[in-house]
Amino acid sequence: MAYARGQGANGREGHGTGRVSMRAMHILICLEGTPAEPWVEGFRAALPEATVDVWQEGQAHTVADYGVVWRPPQAFFDDQPQLQAVFNIGAGVDAILQRELPAAMQVVRLDDAGMAVQMAEYVCQAVIRHFRGFDRYESDMRAGVWQSHEPRRRADCPVGVMGLGVLGQRVAQALAAFEFPVNGWSRTPRAVDGVRAYSGEAGLQDFLHASQVLVCLLPLTPETENILDRRTLGALRPGGYLINVARGGHLVEQDLLDLIEEGHLSGATLDVFREEPLPQGHAFLQHPRLVLTPHTSAITLREDSIVQIAGKMRALAQGRQVAGMVDRERAY
Ligand code: NAP
Ligand code: GLV
Repeated sequence: MAYARGQGANGREGHGTGRVSMRAMHILICLEGTPAEPWVEGFRAALPEATVDVWQEGQAHTVADYGVVWRPPQAFFDDQPQLQAVFNIGAGVDAILQRELPAAMQVVRLDDAGMAVQMAEYVCQAVIRHFRGFDRYESDMRAGVWQSHEPRRRADCPVGVMGLGVLGQRVAQALAAFEFPVNGWSRTPRAVDGVRAYSGEAGLQDFLHASQVLVCLLPLTPETENILDRRTLGALRPGGYLINVARGGHLVEQDLLDLIEEGHLSGATLDVFREEPLPQGHAFLQHPRLVLTPHTSAITLREDSIVQIAGKMRALAQGRQVAGMVDRERAY
C-alpha cells in the first residue's frame, strides 16, 4: 500500500513540475529472484540525495518517483500508480509490458551495461563450437578415438542474427570478426559494417534462406512471439542450427524437436525457455543435439547497471532525454 502524495514517510511534497528534484527523489526497488539489499546499498551510494527502499507487497511505502524492477508483480504498479518511470535491470521488458501500467509512466531498459560483450562471447562460442564440431571431438576423445575431421568452409556456414539492436549488432560484428558470413534482420532497415542487412516481413524469407545458423536476439513482443517455428526454422539452409538467447516465448519447442528429428536442423544451443527453470522431465534436458544453459548468456552486472540507471535518473530529474526509453506501442 502507498502513502498518499505529501504524506510520505520522508514527509516530502508532490512534484507538480513533472520533474523530480534530487533532494526529494524516492526510489523503490522491486526485484524477483534477486536479493534487493545490494541494489539498495548501491543506489544509496550512487544517489546520496535520494531515499531508497525495498517494495514489499502488503506493506506501506512512500509514494515513489522511480522504480527499479525485475519481473515486478501487478501489485507493485497498483500500489504505485504515480511512478514517473521504472528502470528495468535487464534489456528485455516483456515481463513489465504484460502488466497494466500507469498511463504516463516511462519504462527504461538497461542499455548494454556490460551485457553486449557477454552476449558476443556466448554466441561466438556457440557458433564456433558448432562450426568446428568440438562436441564431436569431445565425445570422440571420451571414447578413446584420436581423429580429426574434414574442416568446414566458413562460406558454408552463414550466420543470421535476428534483431540488430544493442546486443544483436555487437554479436553480428563479433561474428564478422571471425570471418563468418553474417546476415542481419531487423524491423526497420539497419546498416551494420560487415553484415548483410534484411528488414521487415518482406525481407524475412530471403534472410532465412541466406542463413544456416540462426541467432535470435529479438525482444519478445506480440509480433515476435512464436517466430521460431516450422516456417522460419524450416527455411534455413539444410543442416541449420538455432541459437536462442532472447526469450523462450520466441520458440515453438515441438517444431524444433521435429525439425531435428527430420534431419533438417542439426541441433540448437538454447539459453532461454518458456518455463524457467526447465521442468524436470522436459524433452530438451536429455536431448543429444541440444546444448542448454540456464538463462545466463548475458548476466546483469550490478555495479555497471547502478551507474547507468543512477545517471539516467539524474538526467530525467533534470528534464534531459536518456537512451533506452521503451516505446510501449512497439513493445520494446
Ligand atoms: P533492442 O536494442 O531493443 O533491439 C531489438 C532488435 O530487434 C532491433 O533491431 C529491432 O528492430 C528488432 N526487432 C524488434 N521487433 C522486430 C520485428 N517484429 N521484426 C524484426 N525485427 C524486430 O534489444 P537488445 O538490447 O538487443 O536485446 C534483445 C533481447 O535480448 C532482449 O529483449 C531480451 O529479451 C534478450 N536478452 C536476453 C538475455 C539473456 O541472458 N538470455 C540478456 C539480455 C537480453 P529495429 O532495429 O528496427 O528497431
Ligand atoms: C535478460 O534476460 C535481460 O533481458 O536482460
